[in-house]
Amino acid sequence: MAPIAVDERPAPPKYHGKFEIHKLKSDQSFQSEPVQGTVYHGDGREEALLKHLQSLPQLQNKPGTQPVLDAIHEFGKGENRYLMSVGDTKGTGIEKLINEKKPKHLPKIHPNSVYPANWTGDANEDKAGYISLEKSEVYAATARGAIELAGLGDVVKIVTGSSTPSLKNLRKTLNLPRPIKFDMIFIDHLKPLYTNDLKVMEEEGLIAPVSRDDNVKVRIELIEMHLALKGTIIVADNVVKPGNPAYLSYVRAKPEQKRAMLARPPLKTQPPVTPNPSDPSEWETAFCDGPLEETLWTPVESDGVTGRGDPDLVYSSEMIGGWDPYTGERDACEVSVCLRKESS
Ligand SMILES: C[S@@+](CC[C@H](N)C(=O)[O-])C[C@H]1O[C@@H](n2cnc3c(N)ncnc32)[C@H](O)[C@@H]1O
Repeated sequence: MAPIAVDERPAPPKYHGKFEIHKLKSDQSFQSEPVQGTVYHGDGREEALLKHLQSLPQLQNKPGTQPVLDAIHEFGKGENRYLMSVGDTKGTGIEKLINEKKPKHLPKIHPNSVYPANWTGDANEDKAGYISLEKSEVYAATARGAIELAGLGDVVKIVTGSSTPSLKNLRKTLNLPRPIKFDMIFIDHLKPLYTNDLKVMEEEGLIAPVSRDDNVKVRIELIEMHLALKGTIIVADNVVKPGNPAYLSYVRAKPEQKRAMLARPPLKTQPPVTPNPSDPSEWETAFCDGPLEETLWTPVESDGVTGRGDPDLVYSSEMIGGWDPYTGERDACEVSVCLRKESS
């Protein structure tokens, strides 16, 4: 079973309590009607964030990504300004993965990368891009603004709409050539959708196994990972806070376990969600044998698109630990590398 990365660094400062109840103040940068309830997004703070970024003199001449990320993080420390960002502890681990993986889209690594603004669709072309799926028009506009400020407008394509149908139709929407596989995938949206969306990507052939003898050892924080650099790497955020037992079970399952699930009919209603183990020492073994049956249910937010997945794909999967950037709560990303396809 995959080891859990132990992050020995001190927790970051707590700028916000655990998903506290916010009452909005009548602050000009927020919508005027106060909203009550558990509000940590969608109350005008995203629009306010973009305005703020666009007003900062130091971000005016495409300074690159780090100053933009720093400014976003500073903004998120403010009262009622918690942002759902992955944060720098988990982000640093992901950045190291990206640097090892060298996906074609990174302009630093591939300076000629111009996808999707100017791609011919030729599969052999050494050009690629970063595709971001976002349901909300408002958040898509916020992201687009920040991406422009970072100078990445030419390499990032935002597809607006629900992730599951977007993934199902992605080849058509973006005129992607058939054989194309993703180098790397970052999943960070509605937690119950993770598994179904992964299954849709598997089915659409967007996930590829590694070629033989391509395994390399990579050191990330305190753990060494045997990464298959050519196989698709899937990074899923928030697998500790709030946790995602069904997703972890799926990426850690053996092909025969997944095939056995496929032989059963899909569930019409959501089964009770398996709670995360309360003791972190149980994480290593908790998801070896289940709860795979939870993945037989398709969330309504999938908009009627059900993924059967490809049970023959085998992943090596482990966590990289970190922290919520604002609440100081422990969290982790699950990093799964597609190793091979077993013949059934
Ligand atoms: C946690 S935030 C992403 C944060 C981002 N990864 C970062 O680190 O800054 C989750 C995003 O997923 C979007 N989202 C939620 N459900 C979705 C769905 N079904 N399809 C596409 N996007 C969705 C939300 O609108 C929100 O912008």
